[in-house]
Amino acid sequence: MLITGESGAGKTENTKKVIAYLALVGAMQQANEKSDVPKKRGTLEEQIVQTNPVLEAFGNAKTVRNNNSSRFGKFIRSHFSASGKLAGGDIDHYLLEKSRVVRQAPGERCYHIFYQIMSGWDPKLRDKLKLNNDLKYYHFCSQAELTIDGVNDKEEMGITQTAFDIMGFDEVECMNLYKNVAGIMHMGE
Ligand SMILES: Nc1ncnc2c1ncn2[C@@H]1O[C@H](COP(=O)(O)OP(=O)(O)OP(=O)(O)O)[C@@H](O)[C@H]1O
Ligand SMILES: [Mg+2]
Repeated sequence: MLITGESGAGKTENTKKVIAYLALVGAMQQANEKSDVPKKRGTLEEQIVQTNPVLEAFGNAKTVRNNNSSRFGKFIRSHFSASGKLAGGDIDHYLLEKSRVVRQAPGERCYHIFYQIMSGWDPKLRDKLKLNNDLKYYHFCSQAELTIDGVNDKEEMGITQTAFDIMGFDEVECMNLYKNVAGIMHMGE
């Protein structure tokens, strides 16, 4: 299935509907068979659906054309067993717009994760990352817009963290990713 179109056409939103549908159909098949999914993480179909908040946090940003513009392309494979049971998935990604990490045009923002980390969702996170200054102090992510109308970065951070949890990322793995983001912010100074 090839989903194309100009920025803002609806590729991301409609791809999510397709994946949710395929995961649901695969899960219905799965329910008929004995499941040995570990309890701590989400089920396989939950994990596949929950790849999206993480990919969007790290790879989507506000542009003048779309408040949630994907700045990379991706090829998603869903794997099904011969009986139609959902068996896994993998994603290849292409052409992440790296320049946005350090530079934003007027009316645009850097990748959502920078503002999510600064939102204070986890009150101790900024302290742990030594991000104690105001967002506008960090030059790499504050050259244009800092907020998006109708988007609550604090809530979005909760959604990102929940997605990490369901996919089975542990605290150290998440912290390492956040440290990377914070490292970039510190390097701008
Ligand atoms: N099926 C849909 N239902 C409701 N809203 C939609 C739908 N498709 C698109 N939209 C609206 O259009 C906006 C842009 O859609 P989307 O992010 O999917 O575009 P895109 O094609 O992925 O763009 P880009 O190339 O910039 O990533 C969404 O944030 C949403 O507001
Ligand atoms: Mg998109």
